Amino acid sequence: GKVRKPTSIISTICDDRGDELTYNGVPISEVCKEEYVLGDVIGLLWFKRKLPSYASRFIEMCLKLVADHGPCVSGAHNTIVAARAGKDLVSSLVSGLLTIGPRFGGAIDDSARVFKDAIDRNLTPEQLVEGMKSKGKRIPGIGHLIKSADDIDKRVVILKQYAKTHFSSSKYLEYALEVEKYTLQKANNLILNVDGCIGVLFLDLLHSCDLFTKEEIKEIIDVGYLNGFFVVGRSIGLIGHALDQKRMRQPLYRHPYDDVLYASD
Ligand code: ACO
Ligand code: LMR
Repeated sequence: GKVRKPTSIISTICDDRGDELTYNGVPISEVCKEEYVLGDVIGLLWFKRKLPSYASRFIEMCLKLVADHGPCVSGAHNTIVAARAGKDLVSSLVSGLLTIGPRFGGAIDDSARVFKDAIDRNLTPEQLVEGMKSKGKRIPGIGHLIKSADDIDKRVVILKQYAKTHFSSSKYLEYALEVEKYTLQKANNLILNVDGCIGVLFLDLLHSCDLFTKEEIKEIIDVGYLNGFFVVGRSIGLIGHALDQKRMRQPLYRHPYDDVLYASD
């Protein structure tokens, strides 16, 4: 019989060979219908299934809420400096995206991992916090540079409210809020931040819809899907900052001398 030549690439998320492009088997004419939101497209291309509407809308809400947080944050600052150095849109965007990591915007997967592991191991919030401290590690998803218990992050409030209304399980959020209660005794800014809130709410979402098996949930967390929400969402704001600088024809940026302590001998 016929023997298929071995292929160099295997792809499982889309097909562009027929008359109509499909995303995980769904033709784009269907995807473009009004009821499909961007969260559904992420459902098809990342999670490889049509998510229930409340889940797609939750993803979309995450994208909207992290789209921008002003010109002063790491990502926007890099993008602005690059745009003012005359770099093109993609370079300016990428310059900002490259700051996303364990301290800024990229703590979502690790917060899901750490909180899931703590619950799996039946750790009390105190055991989790003090255990991490003894290893010299920070808890991903806890802490903020400017937001605090006295200046709450509205994004976190909105996310929690959505989950309360639409999710059937809030086990991970509740645990994270107990951890927050403990860390707030140490310092006022050790809140459950927006990365941490998305991380634990996603765990609750995965457990509240019966679309995913235990093995699939483990894979989602192990592979690390969730920082992608910040990357996609914040790209919207970073592109905005690059265009803003170009529109205003801003000159090359140079950091002021008086903001640097020259401490060499
Ligand atoms: N877990 C435990 N202790 C912490 C944490 C944390 N996540 N964050 C701060 N602390 C404590 C530590 O004792 C720290 O002292 P150390 O420097 O000796 O470790 C002390 O608070 C002061 O820390 P600062 O560096 O002053 O905290 P800062 O306010 O500058 O940092 C930051 C804010 C970077 C967000 C920090 O809290 C952190 O690393 N958090 C974990 C990563 C994270 O979740 N990042 C996402 C933030 S949200 C976003 O980017 C969209
Ligand atoms: C952000 O969304 O960029 C942040 O929460 C980080 C910050 O410092 O505001």
